[in-house]
Amino acid sequence: AKVTFDYSKAESFISNDEVNSMKEIAENAKKVLVERTGAGNDFLGWIDLPVDYDKEEFDRIKKAAAKIQSDSEVLIVIGIGGSYLGARAAIEFLRHGFYNNVPKEVRKTPEIYYAGNSISPSYLQGLLDVVGDRDFSVNIISKSGTTTEPAIAFRVFKEKLEKKYGKEEAAKRIYATTDAKKGALKGLATAEGYESFVVPDDVGGRFSVLTAVGLLPIAVSGADIDKLMEGAASGREKALNNAFEENDAMKYAAIRNILLRKGKLIEVTANYEPSLHYFGEWWKQLYGESEGKDQKGIFPAAVDLTTDLHSMGQFIQDGSRTMFETVINIEKSRASVVIDEDPEDLDGLNYLAGKDMDFVNKSAMNGTILAHTDGNVPNLMVRVPEQNEFYLGELFYMYEFACGVSGYILGVNPFNQPGVESYKKNMFALLGKPGYEDMTEALLKRL
Ligand code: PA5
Repeated sequence: AKVTFDYSKAESFISNDEVNSMKEIAENAKKVLVERTGAGNDFLGWIDLPVDYDKEEFDRIKKAAAKIQSDSEVLIVIGIGGSYLGARAAIEFLRHGFYNNVPKEVRKTPEIYYAGNSISPSYLQGLLDVVGDRDFSVNIISKSGTTTEPAIAFRVFKEKLEKKYGKEEAAKRIYATTDAKKGALKGLATAEGYESFVVPDDVGGRFSVLTAVGLLPIAVSGADIDKLMEGAASGREKALNNAFEENDAMKYAAIRNILLRKGKLIEVTANYEPSLHYFGEWWKQLYGESEGKDQKGIFPAAVDLTTDLHSMGQFIQDGSRTMFETVINIEKSRASVVIDEDPEDLDGLNYLAGKDMDFVNKSAMNGTILAHTDGNVPNLMVRVPEQNEFYLGELFYMYEFACGVSGYILGVNPFNQPGVESYKKNMFALLGKPGYEDMTEALLKRL
């Protein structure tokens, strides 16, 4: 069993000639990627990460995770964007659906909460209340070490730690994941003696889930990071070496670009498991930030089904015909809930008696795929045998590799993000950050 991509349900929208022609384009894009001759080629460290990572640091990650598990009831993970979504996607994918609410004797690992992913004071205050006076640790994650959202949250939690434990003891509960040399966080970590982990220079935020950025929080949650890396290594092997017909990453990159060229400007990634919600968020960032530039790209949207069939389902079935859908199908559910027979059958559900809820869920999925296909929404599928570390590793890698290839097919630099700077400049000017004075007055006039 393995993670696979299947476009058989979209074949009526795509001809063999189109596939053959896009195959050639995709093979060229792959060549540019793996020979490292394209735009953004100084950010390709993720390609070999699953087989070529810092083993000493990997061991330190496990040790730090064990220490946090032994001395903390709560871990606060501070980061935003690529320094946040991978860890959250993995923890929600792999661990109990109500992780933080499971009794701690059963869960055996710390509660995990995320901060620095917004600037909302009410969110932060709520989180401070939740931590209360319990033992906790902080993992501050920022590649640049200068991002405003996590920096503010870190200042607040650092102060709470220092008040509770004193400066010296607090420093032993702070883990900093950042650049090896640059940035304010690196300076702070060195000055205060925090245990530090490195975001490699050649790995961009949204491609960093398999570095300490993702691995430390994932390990704290009790998930097996060795298996995650093994899965990613398996995904890498297939992406690099399989022929196009057997290469899921390549086929996914090719098919989505065929559909784009037919006016399908939006890709909706759909799951039927709530625990994949943050995987969808991770995927949206990966593709949105990599491809949405130079006035081009496929807009990545994600829905949780069947939930959103009762809201967005109308639009997908019947709204403007500009989208295709990629279903992530978890083939074997993590749990089994059988629907019982009820002698009175007042709810009329006895026709389902003896059936597992997963059978109902899969029937909803299959029915929806056919309905959406009939509604002119080409349907693609990514099959995941089950929710474990190995398959998540394969999935992460397949999507990352396909993203690099797809970005080159599109003709953009998939590894930069010039667009995310614009809001920051305005925000800094409005806040009166030194160096932005010239812009302040002009912006205030426009408000
Ligand atoms: O993918 C990216 O580059 C961004 O989403 C960053 O990860 C995000 O802006 C956070 O940056 P940093 O890790 O430097 O704080």
